[in-house]
Amino acid sequence: MTHPAIAAHGLRKSYGDKVVLDGIDLVVPEGTIFSLLGPNGAGKTTVVNILSTLVSADPASGTIRVGGHDLDAEPQAVRAGIGVTGQFSAVDGLITGEENMLLMADLHHLPKKEGRRVAAELLERFDLVEAAKKPAAAYSGGMKRRLDIAMTLVGSPRIIFLDEPTTGLDPRSRHTMWQIIRELVTGGVTVFLTTQYLEEADQLADRIAVLHDGRIAAEGSAEELKRLVPGGHVRLRFADPDAYRAAAAALHDVALDDEALALQIPSDGSQRELRAVLDRLDAAGIEADELTVHTPDLDDVFFALTSSTSTGSGTGDTADVPSRPSNPSQSDQPKENVR
Ligand SMILES: Nc1ncnc2c1ncn2[C@@H]1O[C@H](COP(=O)(O)OP(=O)(O)OP(=O)(O)O)[C@@H](O)[C@H]1O
Ligand SMILES: [Mg+2]
Repeated sequence: MTHPAIAAHGLRKSYGDKVVLDGIDLVVPEGTIFSLLGPNGAGKTTVVNILSTLVSADPASGTIRVGGHDLDAEPQAVRAGIGVTGQFSAVDGLITGEENMLLMADLHHLPKKEGRRVAAELLERFDLVEAAKKPAAAYSGGMKRRLDIAMTLVGSPRIIFLDEPTTGLDPRSRHTMWQIIRELVTGGVTVFLTTQYLEEADQLADRIAVLHDGRIAAEGSAEELKRLVPGGHVRLRFADPDAYRAAAAALHDVALDDEALALQIPSDGSQRELRAVLDRLDAAGIEADELTVHTPDLDDVFFALTSSTSTGSGTGDTADVPSRPSNPSQSDQPKENVR
């Protein structure tokens, strides 16, 4: 009988009259990676803070269980089973990396010897052995991030919250982090991850939820979410504003990005469709400075679902997808007219 690692129903949170979470449902099965995506200020950190007992949900929320324990009734039991790596570092810069690790071991009441063993093992695993005796203030951003996550693992938590774990990491460190996260999950750990990198969610997550306007705008596997976006597009960029405007007039069904002088035309990327676009440009005597063919990815889903609060340059680049109820995983998704 396994219960989900995380189950929240009708999760609500307001600050003053600002509604941050307007009743969201989350279910994360044990041993899986769940990724919460959303633009800045969407409420990702708020969700992490609530689920990890750092902040309380509004009383109007439904039940929230983490590790099988009710968040309200048994916060201590919840805390004992989780690890949290916050968006902002918990590393103490005045002491060394090793001392940070040993401090965590103490917090988890590990016996001294065991604490040293765990600290040494994690420092090794996160490639911090050389730096272990240096004050953490002297670490690079990526090293601090690695130390931060290593500290989270000291208590061998079964559920880990990682709030933007790879922000600021270089590509190699990011891949190393992904590998570590995958290994954790292989060992049965559940990972709740927020990220700004859609590729990260694509790479890692079993399920992804997009948070927007206080609700889950869409939820599903990466493949399911990509299917919400009807297709790829051809993007044409112009150096000359006149050519840009002429092309916009010559082509059908275009989305305009006035700032970038770029046009997007929905396209399946086929030779036939591409030729049709180019023929129309030729006929109008217009030449684009740059042409790219784009197949749908999570970025498209993200932009389509989170457009209404985007900075909104131009007119048509952002999509007009109504927020949808959670659980769109059923395959009968209506095709959204996103562009
Ligand atoms: N303690 C607080 N008091 C008042 N407002 C808050 C508090 N904490 C968060 N908020 C507001 O709640 C909203 C969601 O913030 P949150 O930090 O959860 O967003 P986020 O999705 O993590 O954003 P980011 O991607 O920038 O990290 C924001 O509008 C923020 O200003
Ligand atoms: Mg945040």
